Amino acid sequence: MISRKEIKIAASMACADFWRLEEQVRTLEKAKVDILHCDIMDGNFVPNFSLFPDFVTTLKENASIPVEVHMQIVNPERFIETFIDAGADSICFHIETIHNVHRIIQQIKLYGIRVGVSLNPSTHPAVVEYVLSEVDFLTVMAVDPGFYGQTFIPEVLEKIEYLSNIIHTKGHSIDIEVDGNMNVENARKCISAGANIIVAGTSSIFRATGNLEQLTNEFREAISA
Ligand code: DX5
Ligand code: ZN
Repeated sequence: MISRKEIKIAASMACADFWRLEEQVRTLEKAKVDILHCDIMDGNFVPNFSLFPDFVTTLKENASIPVEVHMQIVNPERFIETFIDAGADSICFHIETIHNVHRIIQQIKLYGIRVGVSLNPSTHPAVVEYVLSEVDFLTVMAVDPGFYGQTFIPEVLEKIEYLSNIIHTKGHSIDIEVDGNMNVENARKCISAGANIIVAGTSSIFRATGNLEQLTNEFREAISA
């Protein structure tokens, strides 16, 4: 099912060049990137560490683009207020880390920000069926979270189609975001399956070589065609 919603780009800020962060954020603003996607890792749910509350605040206080927090951590309910206070405009947590999903969604919605649920590649999409009426977006991982530069898992295309169909059938308006190895080819397949937000990392705009603005504009043009 082709996504009928406007295609958006979420820049994966863990992939940015931190030595040139301000310059890169200004470039992302100029290239009209839609979301600054901040991966938070705890070395427990994923075997790595990445961004943190003060990084979110730095972006929120200095950039004009909405800031999204992707909680790749266990017990995310402990840090909802921390990232709200840090300035998050949207928060997604992993369904694999929570037992009482409605409760944490309500906890986040109390602050009037967008709430999403993220699913690892092996997690069946049926697990979110009974929270679709509560969420604003779903983040489908196309790689096991924790590291950039990994390889796309093609089985997630079936998952995106499943979610897109059930969202459409139930009459919800929920964004489907895909995160992990989103190069042009993979992103186009995910959009055809029903996704409308693409997390852009080292596979697209934050390549080791190339001009960030040019890569971003070319990526947007290629996936929106
Ligand atoms: C993985 C992260 C992804 C990743 C995207 O845990 O959530 O955002 O950094 O970068 P690439 O394009 O390198 O997969
Ligand atoms: Zn992410």
